[in-house]
Amino acid sequence: MISKHTYGNPFPTEAVVGEASQAQGDPSCGEVSLEEGFRFSCRMGADDAVYGLGEASRGLNKRGYRYVNSCTDATSHSETAFSLYSAHNFVVVAGKETFGLFFDYPAQITFDIGYTRMDTMTVACARADLDLYVITGEGPYDVVRQFRKLIGPSYIPPKFAFGFGQSRWGYKTPEDFANVADGYRNNKLPLDMLYMDIDYMQDYKDFTVNEEVFPDFPAFVAEMKRRGIRLVPIIDAGVKAEKGYSICDEGIEKGYFCTRADGSTFVAAVWPGDSHFPDVLNPEARAWFGSKYQILTDAGIEGFWNDMNEPTIFYTPELTAQTRANLEKAFQDGAYTPDMLRKPKTEDRGDYERFYHKTIAGVKRHDEVHNLYGYNMTRAAGEALARIDPDKRFLLFSRSSYIGMHRYGGIWTGDNCSWWSHILLNLRMMASLNMCGFLYTGADLGGFGGNATCDLLLRWMALGVFTPLMRNHAAWDTRRQECYQFENTEDFRHILEVRYRLIPYIYSEYMKAALNDDLIFKPLAFVYPEDRMSAQVEDQLMMGSEIMIAPVYTQNARGRYVYLPEEMEFVKFLPCGKISREVLPAGHHYVEIALNEVPLFIRKGKCIPLAGPAETVDAIDTEHLTMLGYSGEYEFYDDDGVHKDYTDPRNYKVLRNI
Ligand code: GLC
Repeated sequence: MISKHTYGNPFPTEAVVGEASQAQGDPSCGEVSLEEGFRFSCRMGADDAVYGLGEASRGLNKRGYRYVNSCTDATSHSETAFSLYSAHNFVVVAGKETFGLFFDYPAQITFDIGYTRMDTMTVACARADLDLYVITGEGPYDVVRQFRKLIGPSYIPPKFAFGFGQSRWGYKTPEDFANVADGYRNNKLPLDMLYMDIDYMQDYKDFTVNEEVFPDFPAFVAEMKRRGIRLVPIIDAGVKAEKGYSICDEGIEKGYFCTRADGSTFVAAVWPGDSHFPDVLNPEARAWFGSKYQILTDAGIEGFWNDMNEPTIFYTPELTAQTRANLEKAFQDGAYTPDMLRKPKTEDRGDYERFYHKTIAGVKRHDEVHNLYGYNMTRAAGEALARIDPDKRFLLFSRSSYIGMHRYGGIWTGDNCSWWSHILLNLRMMASLNMCGFLYTGADLGGFGGNATCDLLLRWMALGVFTPLMRNHAAWDTRRQECYQFENTEDFRHILEVRYRLIPYIYSEYMKAALNDDLIFKPLAFVYPEDRMSAQVEDQLMMGSEIMIAPVYTQNARGRYVYLPEEMEFVKFLPCGKISREVLPAGHHYVEIALNEVPLFIRKGKCIPLAGPAETVDAIDTEHLTMLGYSGEYEFYDDDGVHKDYTDPRNYKVLRNI
């Protein structure tokens, strides 16, 4: 059951596409106060768990912290981060009473989940203009499924996007890319995508390619594709402010950029220096910005990653002037202290109050609709790509998002670090993100910031084997971490080989989840609701309907403890190519897992398909699959991975393990 409680005059975020019955009065699961903005609070029982929040720090169970949903360029996201890049305002309180809450509100909103008082959850925002959806059901999984129906179907990428991708901020020239391609191909390391970070552009200008460096870009794209590698360029939110740059000129002329209060075009600095921000909340401007992706699809590009779309602002002329004035005054008054030079945090800078959008609900100051920017930038691309080639699937993912964006693209989890704790964070986020509709997701494997070690990358990749988006990405000033940079290339080859052998299964489970508004990754408690121990497990996930994953995420560990809610087959892909299998009874076990092994657990009575090794997704032979696990049947989904005819009954096959 879903009821919708409307307060004030909510902004039409277009997050929800399904039906909910309009309720009168406040929800019975908590108390609402409208004294200062909006505030919902409810008591939590000692054993209640709180799931959801999509991209957020900390555990699967979100109790015990405060999360500020305000899309932020979270440059170093640690356990204490209140805000990350996205705002996913959905939680499920699971206990004696179970209910889900979706606060459809486009600006900053705070979830205090047992932070101020351990037994109380309070959700508050500055203005009482929102729709609050309350979902009741049989348990947390049922509540999540209803929510997923409410927000509409998840984005479906092309099949090649399930291959492995290599990225690094700093690849600049065709030679740089060719060297990485050679590194992979010469070492027989599977690879499907090379990501192009901002350096491919001319002066960081969106939809341009540095023509001196890439004199014949379409030919380069085609040559890479001939080698089985798709190039995936980045697109940033900020458009360089430069006379003579057609996108800038056109945007100004048509009034498609965000404006200041006085109507002049808003300016803020990002990578290209002074930049303008396409007003993606204005449908006309959104269609215009989206149409520019065709410049690159015409060159043969089939995928994009949208970045800096919180939007990130390094500084505005207003802030610089204000800081200078403050400093001068402080000097004159003798009140200067060195920390006055420190750059204020984005949320304290006032920059989001300096510009405006022309939205479907009238003119809005940015801070009032802040969390919708990345969503609508990616929607611009998604809608345009569907116009450019209606039956073709494109790869598309974003850094910032709001619920609703899951229909247009996936997300990656931003600038993580080469920390062991970020492997665990990656794992937990997968389930929380799935609850909010984001199925095509993954983290920067090996870590974006910091220096990756060989063992960290191996362990992280053994988790990445299971994440739909499997990409190794790092910042320019870090140790090189492509899979051929370490002495034991064969171990990386083995892990990637396992990924490709599992792609038929991963793809099948992805498609079934996307087509049925289901989750790929679930907390154990969703599958074993009667088992009290399952609710405690924070470092294992159920994947699809057949398997459980339990990666190793601590350095120097030779294995790990794992909890089995029922009998399962413990499978290890060994570097020699063999597969070790052992049936383990329900309960706690210590399992040994070497650095170059990939573990998974098959649920009792279930089996999964396995392909032979391949170096690209296109080369996977799905006609000759073997089965792994218990004897039984598996419902296998497959299609050409390119077009959108998902409902063809021939896409489903029953595979038997005898
Ligand atoms: C941002 C992105 C990162 C990218 C960098 C340069 O920090 O999150 O992935 O490499 O910008 O474009």
